[in-house]
Amino acid sequence: MKNKPPKINFIGNKEKLASWICDLFPIAAESVFDAFAGSSSVGYEAKKRGMRVISNDILKINAQLATALIENKRETLEESDLTILFAGKPVKGFMYKNYANVYFFPNECMELDRYRKNVEKLGSTYKKALALSLLRRAMIRKMPYSRFTIDWNTIKKLRDEVHSYKTYGRKRAYHNLSFREHVLANLTAYNQAVFDNGKDNRVYNRDIFDLLGTVQADVIYLDPPYSGTMNNYFGFYGALDEYIESKKLKPFKNNFVNRKSALELFDRLFANLTSYKYWVMSYNNSSFPSKEELYTLLSKYASSIEIIEKPHRYKVTGKENKDRNTEYLFVVKNLKKTHVLDDIRDMQVVPPQEMSYQE
Ligand SMILES: C[S@@+](CC[C@H](N)C(=O)[O-])C[C@H]1O[C@@H](n2cnc3c(N)ncnc32)[C@H](O)[C@@H]1O
Repeated sequence: MKNKPPKINFIGNKEKLASWICDLFPIAAESVFDAFAGSSSVGYEAKKRGMRVISNDILKINAQLATALIENKRETLEESDLTILFAGKPVKGFMYKNYANVYFFPNECMELDRYRKNVEKLGSTYKKALALSLLRRAMIRKMPYSRFTIDWNTIKKLRDEVHSYKTYGRKRAYHNLSFREHVLANLTAYNQAVFDNGKDNRVYNRDIFDLLGTVQADVIYLDPPYSGTMNNYFGFYGALDEYIESKKLKPFKNNFVNRKSALELFDRLFANLTSYKYWVMSYNNSSFPSKEELYTLLSKYASSIEIIEKPHRYKVTGKENKDRNTEYLFVVKNLKKTHVLDDIRDMQVVPPQEMSYQE
């Protein structure tokens, strides 16, 4: 099927909520700045709706995903590209030297090192981004729990199909498929997800605090990490950035993880949003700061704030929490400044009671 996002597997992915979120953008808005893009699920939905999408994430791998799926208009990976990608012999490169018997077996790291070198031989930025996105998918599929915060002994145990079957009733055989097999299994879905919506969509890979005010858009969509949830994005995915760069990297600052500095960061964030007329921010009920604290902070900078509610199930949440997650959207109309959309009609927001349906 065309224009369908491929399987990405990203913690905090809003794929199931993307349509609901975009429905709450003002009708007349033509562009959106997806400031914490992650898997690009919201940007992708907005692109489908014909909006101009400007995407940003501090993680390099997320910017590669956005380059492949949001900025890319038509380039896909063909047979000849795959010949280039899979050519040659295993190499003892960055992954082998740093992550053999840490995340993957030595021979697997050498495969990754070979593909990383070959990515550079692909013909364009977009083909490279697609190849890296597919390699990401392969690495994530081979990692138990789909994140790079698991120790090697646990990884080995969970990749032992007999042990896994005995303990969990699941073999998890996909952890032991090769990277190449995973790339090939996902190739069609990633290629088919590429489309042109007639707009020049753009991707940034920056700390949001370096970008605010310089990127123009009718709406800014905010989905930062929240304390109290699975939020250690450098820990989860930093190894993928290191693979891209072939060097060790330091965790990024301004990561919203630390409870102490989170409030201060949110304050700084909101203070820098004055050039956007509409702010739409995701939030859920198991996070810090609380809904009330965020509301109070937002009120310092914006005059019209609505909170829309929707029950939501996150896959990663433990069983006991499954039904208790409520997803919120803060929808802010910033009336304090002059804006691009001043002359067009008001936000079309459905009152909360009409939104209450169960997934
Ligand atoms: C909750 S996730 C976004 C999920 C996304 N909406 C989706 O559907 O996949 C938060 C994202 O913020 C990014 N991030 C964290 N700190 C950042 C910063 N200072 N500047 C830009 N991005 C940041 C993380 O890398 C992560 O991808």
